Amino acid sequence: MIPRTMERATQFDPSTRSKISQGQSPSILAQGLSHYFGVGELKKQVLFDNNLTVWPGEIIIMTGPSGSGKTTLLTLLGALRSVQEGSLEVLGESLVGAKPRAMEQFRRKVGFIFQAHNLFESLTAIQNVRMALELCYPDLSAQEQQDRAERILVSVGLDNRMHHRPKQLSGGQKQRVAIARGLVHEPKLVLADEPTAALDEHSGRTVVELFQKLARELQTTIVIVTHDNRILDVADRILTLVDGSIRSDALVKEAAIITQMLAKCPVFERVTPRTLTRVADEFTIEHVAAGQQIIRQGDQGDRFYLIRQGRVSVRRSQPEQETTQQEIVQLSQGDFFGEMALLSGQPRNASVWALEPCLLYWLNQERFQTALADTVSMEAEVREAYFDRQ
Ligand SMILES: Nc1ncnc2c1ncn2[C@@H]1O[C@H](COP(=O)(O)OP(=O)(O)OP(=O)(O)O)[C@@H](O)[C@H]1O
Ligand SMILES: [Mg+2]
Repeated sequence: MIPRTMERATQFDPSTRSKISQGQSPSILAQGLSHYFGVGELKKQVLFDNNLTVWPGEIIIMTGPSGSGKTTLLTLLGALRSVQEGSLEVLGESLVGAKPRAMEQFRRKVGFIFQAHNLFESLTAIQNVRMALELCYPDLSAQEQQDRAERILVSVGLDNRMHHRPKQLSGGQKQRVAIARGLVHEPKLVLADEPTAALDEHSGRTVVELFQKLARELQTTIVIVTHDNRILDVADRILTLVDGSIRSDALVKEAAIITQMLAKCPVFERVTPRTLTRVADEFTIEHVAAGQQIIRQGDQGDRFYLIRQGRVSVRRSQPEQETTQQEIVQLSQGDFFGEMALLSGQPRNASVWALEPCLLYWLNQERFQTALADTVSMEAEVREAYFDRQ
């Protein structure tokens, strides 16, 4: 069952913002971060003046073309290479000018899940995982180490592969051992480079659910480099690296997506993009499980929905035959429903059911009015668009 969470579609988790006001420290704070490879004439800049603030408990997904600098940025965040230019504080420590010994100490606080698995070929899966624990918690009893390593391997679905060596495991299984090893010491920061690339949909989900659990329960910050669209929904923010610069984050990206979706809805047909982005700001995220009813025919609901992911069925029953519903249409990503709720107080004229797990964005009358209140022209634009259609 997918948890039902609610937060602004275009904004950071509100708890994150309250952290700022409470004076809490970010887990990652990069300012003017640049990086170069090579020397002399071969010197080549690969990261350009990047600023980034990430908070405890946030899950960040980083995407971008091959060669754009994602791995370089990750290795800087994890003190696998030295900062050359700009400032970088991670987990409360400045990594600028850090000595090798300090960097090594620092790395113990981080969970690395990198493309190359780097598993020890001579050790079994569980021995590989235990090694990570021993490094961080040498005082833990052997029994406790064994128990923790077993628990994490079970949670990535490797119950019956614990005593196999890497060469007896498939690519996806090795990947899951690497993930277990990266998470077993419950680090405050996890850096993952394409962690689900070799995994099927089910295993990929299991892994991101583990990430979510860590983020929620231990306030672990998780940075995931991925091209896997199937896991984008776990991100609090999506960063895009292009040519060594962080070009956008979810704020911009989601606002743009919502704006495009809204532009297709007759209610907003004549509304300018600038105003639409204001409306986009008022949307709330909702996850709905497969089989769940979203709207009930006859109810007085006041929400307008956009489908960000998933598929729903719109069904209607005749007044005299309320038990038999007929499907009118199926809607999917990019479609919307319930828009009349924003404008009129009429009861719902159909029911809507989720056919698969859905990620929905909704706006109610109150939020809609908030957006209207923010701009004089907006109200005029919407009214014009709506009433001209009558
Ligand atoms: N050790 C290195 N020495 C010299 N150049 C390097 C080194 N590592 C990376 N580069 C170069 O720096 C740029 C950024 O590389 P990086 O590995 O960070 O990209 P990436 O975004 O992770 O790409 P991919 O999606 O293919 O993994 C590339 O042009 C790459 O060729
Ligand atoms: Mg890379």
